[in-house]
Amino acid sequence: MRVGILGSGLMGGKLGTIFARAGHEVVFSYARSMEKLKKLARGIDGKVHGARAGTPSEAAQEADALLLAVHWSRIDDVLNQAGDLSGKVVVTCSLPMNDENTELVVAHTSSGAEELARRLPNARVVSAFNTVPSEVLFGVYEGKRKATRPSLVYCGDDEGSKAVVAELIRDVGFDPLDVGPLRIARYTEPFALLVAELAYEGEGGPELAYRFEWFRK
Ligand SMILES: NC(=O)c1ccc[n+]([C@@H]2O[C@H](COP(=O)([O-])OP(=O)(O)OC[C@H]3O[C@@H](n4cnc5c(N)ncnc54)[C@H](OP(=O)(O)O)[C@@H]3O)[C@@H](O)[C@H]2O)c1
Repeated sequence: MRVGILGSGLMGGKLGTIFARAGHEVVFSYARSMEKLKKLARGIDGKVHGARAGTPSEAAQEADALLLAVHWSRIDDVLNQAGDLSGKVVVTCSLPMNDENTELVVAHTSSGAEELARRLPNARVVSAFNTVPSEVLFGVYEGKRKATRPSLVYCGDDEGSKAVVAELIRDVGFDPLDVGPLRIARYTEPFALLVAELAYEGEGGPELAYRFEWFRK
């Protein structure tokens, strides 16, 4: 697939690198310097293939999927630069946080993902990757062939775009867990905030791990 990265920081940089290693054609965009984007595209020890640096509009061009990974305060700016995203699969890990990253500014009756879908009525928005700290991503990818893989939840209203995102989740090394329509992000986003708080303020630090289990009859 051709995957555009809108926001090439901790999440976008790492996920984009993994997508490229998994064989996708990746365009890194939206950082404060083009040099950083070029460095990401070159990869560590030149290991990344099929990646290049570009503008958000170049990342969006012909993209099969776009990863939106920016601070909530940067959403309007990056979307304005990306241009028309009609029909595009937009997978968001961006959390609707305040400037201090201490609280969600949208919750309970809506979610960042739903606000984004309202902002992009013709795009196909899926929420994923927000429930994991970026620190675990390379480890999960490297352990990809292990018998037990961690689950990663995703939700959205469009089955076709969810299938695309499930493939990307699998490529990173997780078992994709479809938790339903986009409004379920009202519950996964506060969960993501809990994970971040525990990871960075709790005793366990970023080693924190969690898993989901199905309790079937
Ligand atoms: N980090 C995590 O573990 C984690 C986990 C779950 C969800 N999330 C969510 O994912 C989203 C991205 O988080 P992140 O940690 O990846 O953030 P980040 O590292 O700050 O990345 C954001 C990107 O936006 C770029 N940017 C910021 N201001 C800009 C500007 N004025 N012009 C151009 N580019 C600009 C940054 O550029 P530079 O690279 O030059 O700084 C960076 O590449 C957030 O909504 C966060 O809540 C993060």
